[in-house]
Amino acid sequence: MSLSESGFFSDVEYFCQSVRDKKTRLMPGVGRVVCDILSGDDVRQFVFESGARYPDLQVILEGPVDHGDYTFPSGLVDVVALAQLIHDGHSVVLHQLHNRFGPLASLVREFEATFECRAQANVYFSPPNAAALPPHFDNHDVFVFQLEGTKTWQMMKGSIELPGPETTFLPQQHEPGELEESFQVSAGDVLYVPRGIMHHAVASESDAVHITIGVFWTTYADVAVDLLKHLVGRQAELRASIPRDWRTSTAIQQQVLAEIHKHVDAISLEEIRLVLTERWLDLVMTRRPLISDQLEQLRQRDEIKPSTQFRVRPLALWHQSVHDDQAVVYCYGREIAFPSHIGPLLETLFRADGIVTISALLKEIESPDWKVVVQRLLAEGLVELV
Ligand SMILES: [Fe+2]
Repeated sequence: MSLSESGFFSDVEYFCQSVRDKKTRLMPGVGRVVCDILSGDDVRQFVFESGARYPDLQVILEGPVDHGDYTFPSGLVDVVALAQLIHDGHSVVLHQLHNRFGPLASLVREFEATFECRAQANVYFSPPNAAALPPHFDNHDVFVFQLEGTKTWQMMKGSIELPGPETTFLPQQHEPGELEESFQVSAGDVLYVPRGIMHHAVASESDAVHITIGVFWTTYADVAVDLLKHLVGRQAELRASIPRDWRTSTAIQQQVLAEIHKHVDAISLEEIRLVLTERWLDLVMTRRPLISDQLEQLRQRDEIKPSTQFRVRPLALWHQSVHDDQAVVYCYGREIAFPSHIGPLLETLFRADGIVTISALLKEIESPDWKVVVQRLLAEGLVELV
């Protein structure tokens, strides 16, 4: 069962409106399905048996440890040295494990598809009573999925309100204050920690294993920056030089303000749409295919009939548009082009929610090209027979 099928994302509207950016939230038991996707023993296997290398695997003790202490010159992890370090209280982080483990890649993609933004997964293994990191804040939100054991998460004063990517935690600058809130997070629980919240996590009396899913929302600031770049590219007036004496002359400063106001006030909804579409396209075109059964799918391609059940793959992110007399589908870094008259069929196909048949689609839209279109989308890994 996937996290979506377990109902984890069913309150996503409420979460986005009332929880996101605002408060830490413990969600007891709602991540149990993830313990089946990746167990504590799976993580031990990755750590000790998979031939892990630095920097995919890193040892930490309230911060980084010199990797020469646990790797061979080739970068391969020396598991004898590693076991000793863990025995002495060090923790291990498997960075971006979703890039090397398919079920975790699918979990991350569920977050990306649901929240329309980039996500990543790091996995932490801590021995009893260990703290992997000193008190700190992150500049992106995290969902903590506890897989094994229990950790105590302490939220402290000293938080920064909604830091952007340019604000990173600096120990000499950002001091943790007194304790504000404490959460016991056990196997199957999920803890949501908004960016900027000062926190410290310590394992209890046994080994503790958790995944952090980091999510990188699109903010108003992101859109504003994209929009200004777009305007600068389009408006030569904005690229013109400002008059001299700008450092001291109030009149010149007012003129600069007025010129910028003029362009910002003229921004249209169409331009916002354009910039947001470009952001979505960037996400779509940089997501890799998660299609472990593609070879079996290809072997069934010639047997497609009007009654065959199929669906757009739930973990595929795509974008469809019509331009230059072509209907184009963007996915997995590819542009899949069809003649423009295929556009309405594609729209109907992508609008269909869940499993459909061609017979059902043809009731909505007549098209003699359905077979070649479905076969092509199947070959591209975008639809699957079910
Ligand atoms: Fe953190």
